[in-house]
Amino acid sequence: MADFTSYDHDVLVIGAGGAGLRAAIEAAASGVSVGLVCKSLLGKAHTVMAEGGVAAALANVDDRDTWEVHFTDTMRGGQYVNNWRMAELHAQEAPDRVRELEAWGALFDRTKDGRILQRNFGGHRYPRLAHVGDRTGLEMIRTLQDHGIHQGIDVHMEVTVVSLFTSQGRIAGALAYERERGRFLLFRAKAIVMATGGVGRAYAVTSNSWEYTGDGHSLAYRAGAALQDMEFLQFHPTGMIWPPSVRGILVTEGVRGEGGILVNNLGRRFMFDDIPENYRAQTATDPEEGWRYVLGDRDARRPPELLTRDHVARCILREVREGRGSPHGGVFLDIAWIKEKLPGATERIKKKLPSMYHQFKQLADIDITAAPMEVGPTTHYAMGGIRVDGDTQMSTVDGLFAAGESAAGLHGANRLGGNSLSDLLVFGKRAGEHAAAFAQSHDALTPDPGEIKETARTALLPFERTGGESPFQIQQDLQVMMQDLVGIVRRSDEMERALEALEVLRTRAQAVSVSGNREYNPAWHTALDLTNLFTVSEAIIRSALARRESRGGHFRDDFPEKDSAFGSSNHVVRQGEGGGETMHVEAQGIPPIRDDLAKLIKDYQ
Ligand code: FUM
Repeated sequence: MADFTSYDHDVLVIGAGGAGLRAAIEAAASGVSVGLVCKSLLGKAHTVMAEGGVAAALANVDDRDTWEVHFTDTMRGGQYVNNWRMAELHAQEAPDRVRELEAWGALFDRTKDGRILQRNFGGHRYPRLAHVGDRTGLEMIRTLQDHGIHQGIDVHMEVTVVSLFTSQGRIAGALAYERERGRFLLFRAKAIVMATGGVGRAYAVTSNSWEYTGDGHSLAYRAGAALQDMEFLQFHPTGMIWPPSVRGILVTEGVRGEGGILVNNLGRRFMFDDIPENYRAQTATDPEEGWRYVLGDRDARRPPELLTRDHVARCILREVREGRGSPHGGVFLDIAWIKEKLPGATERIKKKLPSMYHQFKQLADIDITAAPMEVGPTTHYAMGGIRVDGDTQMSTVDGLFAAGESAAGLHGANRLGGNSLSDLLVFGKRAGEHAAAFAQSHDALTPDPGEIKETARTALLPFERTGGESPFQIQQDLQVMMQDLVGIVRRSDEMERALEALEVLRTRAQAVSVSGNREYNPAWHTALDLTNLFTVSEAIIRSALARRESRGGHFRDDFPEKDSAFGSSNHVVRQGEGGGETMHVEAQGIPPIRDDLAKLIKDYQ
């Protein structure tokens, strides 16, 4: 039987990307003891994949921008199933969070008069994304990490949590293993913040790296917390598609923000072929730069490539399916064309998009200042996650909080680019603050020793079996199945097949065996990740089946229109009675929006 090392923290933060770091910093500032668990090394997080900028209504480039406009853009992007309180807090607090980050040492590109520069991004009415080239997420992580390590936080690197424990109806701790030695660690904590990011590794083509197996979603669900909006998954329109080894790696929306256009194999700028009704169908041409735009609300100019991500991703899919795609099954993203219009464009591209320049040069042998990139949609972000209170970020389990991508609500049916970075700053801070307050007002509980022992025994089962299947094969089969049957375009019959396929995969997983010892054993780690991947996949499929309409990141071929019957509720996912194996999905009404916020939405439409 496994023994383990124990740690006691007032607040345990699980996940050390932007949301986790921000939560840990805030909790530590309240004077409580804080532990921070990273599945990988500190600083390696999907936050860095939000390359193009952090959204905040600083109004540095267009002084018409305000928190109210940011709020209405976020609600419209989310197709009005957002948690409106979170959308309000996010829009109001994002500017202060960005300035605070700057005070902690973050570098941003500058306007000519020295203010933080902001760029255009999809669905944002005005240039709103504060950025540093195409490395904004990286700069944020660097800053939070540099700041965080001086706050007395205990960092546990390369540690993966396998289960949460509750006692007397509230959170009590977690059991984890160290990747390096394979030993178990027991964390006792008065409050826990989940900040584990997304679920991208349930899909074959994703911008997410190996850590993103839905751990936080699944751990919280198994501890009795409700999940929400799991059908809403964001397929970022532009990932690399060639060569195969780099398929899915993100190509920042910043490329389109800097003037990149999407063209098909006929050289046609196909995004003009499908302009949503709420934009004016006619196009305008910028008299100075000669660029073509569609006109949005209040005549805000927007290239059609910067319509919302769900729309752009579906347009790309249409071109590919109708035979107008690029040689490797995507479309072309061309930033080199701006050389016709802008003197010094080559240097500008290298300066504004340095990572993209090097990424394509090194991985695909393409010079993006001279030739178009081949791109296609990639699974990028889960709008769905742990259901939380908008103000405190506490889940439906007392003492369990969530922030960033693992929490649901802010983004509704579709997230606007750059809102992920502001989300994790605003709600990371809130989660840390409220988790600390919770810890200060509650005693520590002791997890049940029998439960701890049983969790450790179950985790080691793959070592006791011999001749079983490889966990890698099962993970790969799951990814292909989810990609094929529950991807960008969904249908009832395919999703029913997906549920059946999932049961077969679960059965296969019960016989998985791993060899070797517990030190750095990726097969064992993958075997444990499978539980989480199955939970989130089932939640996605069941929620997607329940939403018999198309909205945001969820598109149903068999119900291609938006249906108002589904427009005022979220799908909430819970364990069956007594914490059984059955997963329940039910529609839960969204609380009526406050009158002043409803008026804002009306006024800004
Ligand atoms: O395209 C990007 O740079 C991604 C940004 C985001 O997901 O927020």
